[in-house]
Amino acid sequence: MMEGVHMRKLFLVLVLLLAVAGIAIAQGGVKKKSQRPYEYGTISIDNFSTKAGLAPVVFDHWIHRSKYTCRLCHVDLGFSMKANGSGITAADNMKGAFCGTCHNGTMVYGTQKIFQACTKNVTKSDISRCEKCHQAGRNAKKQQEFASFAQNLPKGRFGNGINWEKSEAMGMIKLIDYLEGISFKMEQLPVQKDFVLTSKIGGMPDIIFSHRKHAVWNGCELCHPDIFNVKKGGTKYSMSDMFEGKYCGVCHDTVAFSQMDCQRCHSEPVQ
Ligand code: HEC
Ligand code: HEC
Ligand code: HEC
Ligand code: HEC
Ligand code: HEC
Ligand code: HEC
Repeated sequence: MMEGVHMRKLFLVLVLLLAVAGIAIAQGGVKKKSQRPYEYGTISIDNFSTKAGLAPVVFDHWIHRSKYTCRLCHVDLGFSMKANGSGITAADNMKGAFCGTCHNGTMVYGTQKIFQACTKNVTKSDISRCEKCHQAGRNAKKQQEFASFAQNLPKGRFGNGINWEKSEAMGMIKLIDYLEGISFKMEQLPVQKDFVLTSKIGGMPDIIFSHRKHAVWNGCELCHPDIFNVKKGGTKYSMSDMFEGKYCGVCHDTVAFSQMDCQRCHSEPVQ
């Protein structure tokens, strides 16, 4: 009997939360329901481009996160964790900051020179390069490249449809975390043990939080101290805060796997 009441209560909570999630996603604006796997984590940057008569810049996380850690870009290179928050200008890129750190026409990835970002004195032959970033409309070539990239990787539900954590752990992608002459020499902090976060509502499976798995991508500075206190239990938050894009939701629903994937976090069996 108790069991039945309990399950009904849990079901109601789930429905409520899904409704909240629906609203949060709708309010997010950019995150349309019809978002395709290759568009998850794609950001349109347009503080200056349209005003300068160019198409907005399209930045895809999937291309970049398959090669570099989050930490490298968001700590060492100083990219904001908010769309349009960095205020990147063409001049910054030409000085070798932001996108221009790598897209400087000389840096090599694998055996290939990375194409250059903004330059002055544009000739006709430069235009196709400008349009790789200042991109109007959908890019069919990129969609194809995504499909062949994702094809052989472990699958995930929602988002990019890729299990990024497994892809890295299995060595199918190799992440660069350090750029010579650019990254800070860091002192390596000891990685904290995994711990269990308990849901406030009974019947909801607990969450196993892995510091080790997160540190691979995020180092320490992406979360501490801005998103979480360095003290267990020091940060109070709920699932609806997360659906509003705070705490775990800063990354989960934007770039890391979607919060619709309840079981990937609530994975500990109910006691
Ligand atoms: C690697 C990506 C990349 C490429 C390639 C690129 N840009 Fe940009 N560019 C940016 C970013 C990012 C911004 C900032 C976008 C914004 O906020 O509107 C920008 C902004 C601009 C602006 C806006 C005005 C300003 O002062 O910031 C101009 C003009 C510009 N780029 C010119 C060019 C030209 C011309 C080319 C081709 C020769 C080019 N860019 C190629 C990334 C790129
Ligand atoms: C190559 C550099 C690069 C890498 C690698 C990278 N990011 Fe980003 N990220 C950016 C840029 C650029 C933006 C947009 C900033 C702006 O518009 O000023 C951004 C924006 C974001 C945002 C804000 C999204 C939004 O919708 O407002 C989040 C969250 C984020 N990144 C998380 C991550 C996570 C998590 C990873 C690793 C899985 C990651 N990033 C890897 C460059 C990178
Ligand atoms: C840490 C290095 C790094 C940074 C920073 C970086 N990129 Fe890239 N980017 C790469 C590499 C490597 C590739 C893949 C190789 C190539 O296409 O030349 C790539 C590919 C791309 C592509 C795909 C081009 C295509 O052919 O479809 C676009 C678009 C792009 N970057 C835009 C940006 C923009 C915009 C920024 C800044 C907001 C940025 N990148 C910052 C390294 C970087
Ligand atoms: C993805 C986000 C994230 C990353 C990355 C991260 N942490 Fe944490 N850390 C947390 C969360 C969440 C807590 C628990 C906070 C709470 O309960 O209020 C925590 C707690 C801690 C605590 C307190 C633990 C305790 O038992 O009191 C320490 C110390 C800590 N982190 C150190 C680190 C170090 C060192 C790194 C890098 C190796 C790191 N963290 C990377 C999210 C992160
Ligand atoms: C700074 C960004 C960031 C924040 C904040 C963050 N995560 Fe993650 N998380 C990631 C990235 C990146 C991955 C790698 C997988 C992916 O991108 O889908 C990941 C993977 C995971 C995984 C799968 C790895 C595993 O252990 O099997 C779980 C579960 C998870 N996160 C839970 C959480 C929880 C719970 C919180 C909040 C306490 C949180 N995350 C906060 C970025 C973040
Ligand atoms: C990225 C990891 C993550 C995902 C995905 C996730 N949760 Fe949570 N959830 C948490 C964390 C962490 C807490 C604990 C917050 C606390 O109490 O400290 C939590 C707490 C809860 C609670 C307890 C009440 C509350 O508001 O804190 C409920 C109910 C819940 N989640 C339901 C869901 C449902 C339903 C989904 C899927 C739609 C979901 N969660 C997806 C991490 C996650």
